[in-house]
Amino acid sequence: GIARRPYHEKVIDHYENPRNMGTLDKSDPAVGTGLVGAPACGDVMRLQIKVDDGGNIVDVKFKTFGCGSAIASSSYITERVRGLNIDDALKIKNTDIAKELCLPPVKLHCSMLAEDAIKSAISDYRKKRGGDVIHSVSGA
Ligand code: FES
Ligand code: FES
Repeated sequence: GIARRPYHEKVIDHYENPRNMGTLDKSDPAVGTGLVGAPACGDVMRLQIKVDDGGNIVDVKFKTFGCGSAIASSSYITERVRGLNIDDALKIKNTDIAKELCLPPVKLHCSMLAEDAIKSAISDYRKKRGGDVIHSVSGA
C-alpha cells in the first residue's frame, strides 16, 4: 500500500516538479497573457491562459524568473485555475496560495505575484475579446 505521505510532500513536489511550465501562442485571440513583477525583489512571472467561449480556462502555462516560492506559487495556481471560469479564477487570493504552500510571511509577496499574474492574464484576455462583447452603458 501507499505509506502515509508527509505533510509537505505536495509542496516540495511543486518546487521540484513545477506543473504547466511553458508558453501559449500570444496571437491566439483566446489567449490572455499576464506579465507581472515583484518590486520587492525584481522577480518576474508570466502566466498565460486559454479561455473557451463559455469563459472557462482550458489551458494554462507559466514562466517564472524568480525564487522557489514564486515558482511553486505559479505551479500551484496553474493547477488551481485549470477548468475554472475566469470569474472564479479572479477570486483566488494570494493568502490561499500561501496557506496551501505553507509560505512564511517573508515569502508572501511571492504568492502575490501569482495572484497578480492570473488577474493580469484575465484582464489581457478581456481586453482582446472586448471587441466581441456588447457592453451595456448605464446612466446615458
Ligand atoms: Fe521557501 Fe517555504 S521554503 S517558502
Ligand atoms: Fe521575490 Fe520570491 S523572493 S518572488
